[in-house]
Amino acid sequence: MSSQLTAPAAIVLAAGQGTRMRSRIPKVLHPLAGRAMIDHVLDSLAMAGVGRPVVVTGHGADAVEAAVGSRATTVRQEPQRGTADAVRIGLESLTNDVATVLVTMGDAPLQPAELYRELLDRQRATGAPVVLLTARMPDPSGYGRIVRRADGSAEAVVEEADADAAVRAIDEINVGTYAFDAGWLRVSLGRVAASASGEYYLTDLVALGAADGRPAAIVESADAEDAIGINDRVALAAAEERLRRRIAERHMRDGVTIVDPSTTRIDAGVEIGQDARIEPWTILEGDSVIAQDAVIGPNAHVRDSRIGPRTRVWASVVEESSVAEDVQIGPYAHLRPGSQIGPRCRIGNFAEIKRSSLGAGTQQHHFSYIGDAQVGENVNIGAGSVTANFDGTAKHRTVVGDDVKLGVDTMMVAPVTIGEGATTGAGSVVTRDVAPGKTVVGVPARPIELRRRHKPAPDGAPAAEATPLPSAPDRNP
Ligand code: UD1
Ligand code: CA
Repeated sequence: MSSQLTAPAAIVLAAGQGTRMRSRIPKVLHPLAGRAMIDHVLDSLAMAGVGRPVVVTGHGADAVEAAVGSRATTVRQEPQRGTADAVRIGLESLTNDVATVLVTMGDAPLQPAELYRELLDRQRATGAPVVLLTARMPDPSGYGRIVRRADGSAEAVVEEADADAAVRAIDEINVGTYAFDAGWLRVSLGRVAASASGEYYLTDLVALGAADGRPAAIVESADAEDAIGINDRVALAAAEERLRRRIAERHMRDGVTIVDPSTTRIDAGVEIGQDARIEPWTILEGDSVIAQDAVIGPNAHVRDSRIGPRTRVWASVVEESSVAEDVQIGPYAHLRPGSQIGPRCRIGNFAEIKRSSLGAGTQQHHFSYIGDAQVGENVNIGAGSVTANFDGTAKHRTVVGDDVKLGVDTMMVAPVTIGEGATTGAGSVVTRDVAPGKTVVGVPARPIELRRRHKPAPDGAPAAEATPLPSAPDRNP
């Protein structure tokens, strides 16, 4: 049968307003572990092996559709007339050969793929028209309650508004995630009547099935907190904590040391190599990749960056940058977007780097700024050295060759090139290109030979020594 070969389909309900979030942002777009809530749902669905999901949008549809992009088909539900109406609209986007449909909510980002598989497997195994996901709640108020039959199958889901005291006392609730026999679902949705509120309840299908002698099967979730949807920002923070813990545990099982998971925040998209060590109070965000044996933290913040093997990032911020192996960064360094740091570099206290590359073995130990620059290998950037890259209207580039020694407080007024092996004296303001191997000093910086020529020799004395450099270039190891 071709229907057996078609992957199960999935419909994600995301048209509701999410009033209790009290937000101008659609609920399913609130971030969780660095990604939109609905992205986590789509991740789990992809892992469960369902076909391209259909997301039903309504409130904030433009924003939700933009965020979902090509990950799912989107269809609009206008107006929002209840969950049965939303599923009916979602079904219109599915082909007729689909045999099983998973229905879930865009605001249930913690549901693991295994849960979806369990529902789908149960549906296939039992042939039940619908398999309900339920949870036991200490406080079930607000949820639809599960009324079971003697054999354990479902008699009905009774919404809070329609429940009497006995039903309200039931602590087993309807999560809002289901596996349906697709053919049965198509036929039965038309039988759902409007409720007193005018909404069409998807949950009415359970009683309809039971009346036909086809009761719903039940999967009771082992972990209610993972199963249920997020309704307000208190639940959002609780979900964040759970998700963070889950991410940290995944990395630890994969061989990463996380010294203190409770003070470490790792986004869902971060990759970390074996034997890397994440010290306390560290935040790893976006699509960062941390190589093996790297040591990050304490107090490090890395976003969308690559950190090489054995590199140490201590109490520093690294954004959209790439750092090679065996580099030492910090404490108190800031790598701004577009920085590329070569192997064995040393980036020290209060060093700021932006849209610049540093070659292998280059050292920038103390309070300095390198922006829009290409710095070669084994360069020593003296304390307080600064690229004056902005002339008030435009940014200009600075090029520093290999083995250059920049004396303390060197100002490089861009555009300017300092040739390979050149040296600048302390306090030099470099406004013109420096030829390879030359030494420049002063304000503005001049080659040292020029100064020698201008210095008159004292009477009868041999030609004067060159003006001594104000100080040797900083070479703190
Ligand atoms: C629904 C269930 C209830 C269950 C609860 C779990 C019904 C009738 N009741 O309650 O048994 O305990 O979820 O949270 O289904 N949505 C749409 N279009 C609509 C209405 C809702 O897409 O017209 C979406 C919402 O965005 C949300 C989901 O469906 O993702 C559930 O809607 P919500 O209003 O949160 O749940 P209830 O209807 O209160
Ligand atoms: Ca509702």
